[in-house]
Amino acid sequence: MPHRLGLPDLGVGVGLRVPHYRHILAERPPVDFFEIISENFMIQGGKPLHHLDRVLETYRVVQHGVSMSIGGPTPPSDEYLAGLRKLMARTRTPWLSDHFCWCAVPGANLHDLLPLPFTEEAISVVVDRAKRIQDTLGVRLALENASSYMSFTSSTMPEWEFISRVADAADIGLLFDVNNVYVAAYNHGFDPYEFVANVPHERIVQIHLAGHTNLGKYIIDTHSDHVIDPVWDLYRFTIERTGPVSTLIEWDDDIPRNIAPVLGNFVRGRYTKRREQWRGPRRDDETTL
Ligand SMILES: [Fe+2]
Repeated sequence: MPHRLGLPDLGVGVGLRVPHYRHILAERPPVDFFEIISENFMIQGGKPLHHLDRVLETYRVVQHGVSMSIGGPTPPSDEYLAGLRKLMARTRTPWLSDHFCWCAVPGANLHDLLPLPFTEEAISVVVDRAKRIQDTLGVRLALENASSYMSFTSSTMPEWEFISRVADAADIGLLFDVNNVYVAAYNHGFDPYEFVANVPHERIVQIHLAGHTNLGKYIIDTHSDHVIDPVWDLYRFTIERTGPVSTLIEWDDDIPRNIAPVLGNFVRGRYTKRREQWRGPRRDDETTL
């Protein structure tokens, strides 16, 4: 199986957020690609689509969703999938991502990425839906490991086994959130390196990095700060196994005004260094990436 399921390495990107529109459109900073939250643009027209079109003039854009609820009590509606398809025609996203989670019940969106039980039944449900969505939309689906704060006593396997088995059985990609691995490992007391070592690396089509808030007893995945060094270390360990893969910084709270050039250059420097060295031995003077 080819690396990234044959999908392109887009380089280093940043989540497209409203406070940066003016700067991005005026300065066109050297960010390799942007990621959008699909649901923010699944509308008929207006300013969001106008801005998206201006961004698309210069940048590759990938679509990331938060409402698929692939493990929920009901599958995503035809209307929702039609909205995704319409937006895909606009962005020409090379893959379509959402989360291993559930977030809706009939008649209500709970607006949170709630964890799934890691069971045979949940594997069966998610695999069937993932296959159907991937076939229906004609794009590679990539599901993301979510951060979590509770787990189900009914789970019969570790999270890494659950996402690996779904990805293999449905033949989908993984959007691998390295910060989420770190957060979940901290909150649940498992080894994040064991998690990374055991997933199907050739299925990782994109990586997420983000900052979080450590409250001591547990970590909240706030996306409100810089990526910490232990997460960079875990990222290094990951791309030693995947090879170069599109990497994106998520920053959603306390957003610095000029995050795009700051993070774009910052991440690019780290990532370029890693690309040069990922097969080489770790030097004594290299404490992080
Ligand atoms: Fe993420």
